[in-house]
Amino acid sequence: MPVFVIANPKGGVGKSTFAINLAGYFATRGHKVMLGDVDVQQSSRSWLAVRPPNLAPIAAWEVSGDNVARPPRGTTHMVLDTPAGFDGTRLDEALKIADKVIVPLQPSMFDIMATQAFLQQLIARKGKAEVGVLGMRVNSRTRAADQLAHYVRHLGLPVLGFLRDTQNYVQLASQGATVWDAAPSRVEKDLEQWETVLEWVRK
Ligand SMILES: Nc1ncnc2c1ncn2[C@@H]1O[C@H](COP(=O)(O)OP(=O)(O)OP(=O)(O)O)[C@@H](O)[C@H]1O
Ligand SMILES: [Mg+2]
Repeated sequence: MPVFVIANPKGGVGKSTFAINLAGYFATRGHKVMLGDVDVQQSSRSWLAVRPPNLAPIAAWEVSGDNVARPPRGTTHMVLDTPAGFDGTRLDEALKIADKVIVPLQPSMFDIMATQAFLQQLIARKGKAEVGVLGMRVNSRTRAADQLAHYVRHLGLPVLGFLRDTQNYVQLASQGATVWDAAPSRVEKDLEQWETVLEWVRK
């Protein structure tokens, strides 16, 4: 059962946004997905609470305090959202169970600098987990996207793709929904951008 950990100690880079949409992808494909949240703010948990019952179900995975437990039986996919500042032993615990770690990163100098030490730490400590970086709130074919890709590849990590800055994520999240729950015509561009991300996720 694949376990995806979404992490970046820098705040507000899109971890929760990516986590809920990844969980939404698996759910709408009929998988038994659990979404865990070790964030004290419980962003993903609060989002699950407003998810309408007629949409593809996503179960809540109770993760208490520092204790990142194994997901219960029956689960086919696991997505773990982590908070800003997630580091040290808690990160080690999460890395133990992670198959893939996805690091959302915005293409600003400050975000990249703030994430640099974390990426190096991940490369050193990841164990069996594969690590990939996702460009968040950035349009591909921009200079910013090129610079981010160059920087990440220089570290020897793959760039999974770029998700643009769009109110679609914001509005859908406020309704407990994901791009996979929306009318495809409304999110056509976004679904297209997920393709390369999903190739890596499924491999
Ligand atoms: N692709 C996007 N387009 C537009 N807005 C986005 C996008 N991704 C994230 N946002 C918005 O940016 C803000 C921060 O995103 P989010 O909460 O997912 O980040 P986070 O990394 O989980 O933050 P924290 O570190 O506080 O947990 C939110 O208001 C979210 O709606
Ligand atoms: Mg969050």
